Amino acid sequence: MIRRTRRLRRTEVLRDSLAETRLSPKALIQPHFVIEGTRQEVAIDAMPGVSRTSVDRLVERVRADLDLGLSSVLLFGLPKHKDAVGSAASESDGLVPRAVEALREAFAEKLTIITDVCLCAYTDHGHCGVLHDGHVANDATLPLLSAMAVAHARAGADVVAPSDMMDGRVAHMRAALEAAGFPEVALLSYSTKFASGFYGPFREAADSAPKSGDRRSYQMDPRNGREAVLESLIDEEEGADMLMVKPALAYLDVIAALRARTLLPIAAYNVSGEYSMVKAAAQKGWIDEARVVREVLWGLSRAGADLLITYHGREALQKGWLQ
Ligand code: PBG
Repeated sequence: MIRRTRRLRRTEVLRDSLAETRLSPKALIQPHFVIEGTRQEVAIDAMPGVSRTSVDRLVERVRADLDLGLSSVLLFGLPKHKDAVGSAASESDGLVPRAVEALREAFAEKLTIITDVCLCAYTDHGHCGVLHDGHVANDATLPLLSAMAVAHARAGADVVAPSDMMDGRVAHMRAALEAAGFPEVALLSYSTKFASGFYGPFREAADSAPKSGDRRSYQMDPRNGREAVLESLIDEEEGADMLMVKPALAYLDVIAALRARTLLPIAAYNVSGEYSMVKAAAQKGWIDEARVVREVLWGLSRAGADLLITYHGREALQKGWLQ
């Protein structure tokens, strides 16, 4: 007898009723690049459809996104001032704290505000930590990252998200947040972050490329799957509330493996290069963008991600691609 799996694919309604994966806008996190000034909106060449915005424009943008159902943001600051230790990162009236305050004031608890915590956009050398003899010094970087996280918490962030890949930063940051009186601020660790070519467009967007060398002494080797799970489990032990795999598409195995080993929520970061490849091919008419974006987001969800950080979110909801 023929095993007829096609029976359940016969009509659209039937297929929909049996879909194993359903995407809610609530699972999407929209990244934003924040710049100084007012009424600023600067396009990013390498990321069609994405721009850097000043705080006032950010508030308008987020208001419209909330109407679409996008209720979580991830903020990146692009400060004017850069120096060797990224001192602008921990200023209480810095760019990101001001953005957080403005969003909190405008949207109260309707919006989940997540902030990226890393020094690379704040250091003049572009590395994610401070340099000692040309080497990224792990332990000397920890207090700077924690001070940055505390500044974001004080401004009203719901979640801080360290993306630097220093060892021990989750425990250090958790302790610093408790000591500063922010026990309720959650920690989403970029727990498994690979040294990846897929970050190329982001580094243009955030002007955060290392001026010398690369990030392979702190970000993970893309060849390693077991170590990828270990990295995340260490952050769980250190007190992370949520874990992350980044990039997403070349690392679906890691998302799935981690899903089997942790009870914490997992975020997948569908990074800039993944976004721009889809955009470029769509602009050339080589792929059907709506279908491809759906497949990408379904794939991440199917692999086990609870939260999807993606630059496609707004357009996908505006154009009804996820229905
Ligand atoms: C900062 C950071 C990066 C991304 C998020 N946080 C870049 C990097 O590590 O070089 C990449 C995001 C993207 O490519 O969309 N450390």
